[in-house]
Amino acid sequence: MWRVAPVPTLPTTYPGRVPHETEQQAAAKPDSLSDAERRQALISSLPTADEDSPLAAQLIRDTQRRVTLSERTFEKPRSTRVFTVANQKGGVGKTTTTVNIAAALARSGLEVLVIDNDPQGNASTALGVEHPSGTVSTYDVLLGEVPMQDAVTVSGALESLWCVPATVDLSGAEIELVSLEGREYRLRTALAEYLRWRDEQGLPRLDYVFIDCPPSLGLLTVNAFTAAAEVLIPIQCEYYALEGLSQLLNNIELIKGHLNPELTVSTILLTMSDTRTNLAREVAGEVRGHFPNETLSAVIPRSVRISEAPSYGQTVMTYDPSSSGALAYLQAARELSDRGAAAATTESHR
Ligand SMILES: Nc1ncnc2c1ncn2[C@@H]1O[C@H](COP(=O)(O)OP(=O)(O)OP(=O)(O)O)[C@@H](O)[C@H]1O
Ligand SMILES: [Mg+2]
Repeated sequence: MWRVAPVPTLPTTYPGRVPHETEQQAAAKPDSLSDAERRQALISSLPTADEDSPLAAQLIRDTQRRVTLSERTFEKPRSTRVFTVANQKGGVGKTTTTVNIAAALARSGLEVLVIDNDPQGNASTALGVEHPSGTVSTYDVLLGEVPMQDAVTVSGALESLWCVPATVDLSGAEIELVSLEGREYRLRTALAEYLRWRDEQGLPRLDYVFIDCPPSLGLLTVNAFTAAAEVLIPIQCEYYALEGLSQLLNNIELIKGHLNPELTVSTILLTMSDTRTNLAREVAGEVRGHFPNETLSAVIPRSVRISEAPSYGQTVMTYDPSSSGALAYLQAARELSDRGAAAATTESHR
């Protein structure tokens, strides 16, 4: 695989380096302002975005977003939330969305599992998990050869981000599953057993599970739909964006009717948006028109930093956490978390 040479990091001491105050020194300073007041003061002190200078406007928007987002932590959901990230259209940002939202949540200390359910194994690569053929993987779990805990591996960059890797072996599973008992529920059963096992072992409860799907609607995707309660659909801001979406939604309705009544399309995320083009704006408007409640207000920009992160075995959340792409994914994770909390509150008031 093509790899870019890692960017050299500067030594912490070198001639001319201005010594900064340590975190302890900063924390020891008397401070009469609350965190919220300090954040608001910082935001107000920034100049307003100058639309005549797109680069400056972008920088200002990013700084405002960084300040607003960085100081808040994510709440733990009331129970484990399981998402399937699906769209049978290829290359729309399913894997990128899976790993970056997962990393955004894990970075704030939540326990997050990514199940790579695509023989391409791109999510495993982006999480820095080795996955040559023969690795204990989703394939073995689906075929019932190993319990899920034997396949779970910690990701390369974050200690509370876990991954069940996928190998090319998984491409045979679509056919091998056909003759197996409960073929549509293999992943659901394995995940439920894993969650129970963690509990028995006294391990922390998982807060989020994300299942990355292949670009097809075969048995692998059906297994992901029966294992989850929520579907996250990434939609690329391109011409033909909505093509094939009705087929995906019909399939989800069928699964809901026959195999998993809990399933809902809770989240739609606009990806790879080139905000300078009218097309991106038109697509976003059309998607929001059809799905006003499901579409997140965060929009993921097209960004080189996002696309180069996997070649370092990283998500953009650790590769370049202050880039526009990382901030957009952080905002998407924030909305997804807040909406879950709001849904849980509505539920408890019923
Ligand atoms: N916001 C973005 N900016 C730039 N490049 C992106 C962005 N999101 C994804 N990409 C790149 O686009 C390509 C497709 O993205 P990704 O692999 O996430 O799509 P996918 O839907 O999972 O594809 P597949 O259907 O093959 O599984 C990848 O090379 C990825 O690095
Ligand atoms: Mg993918």
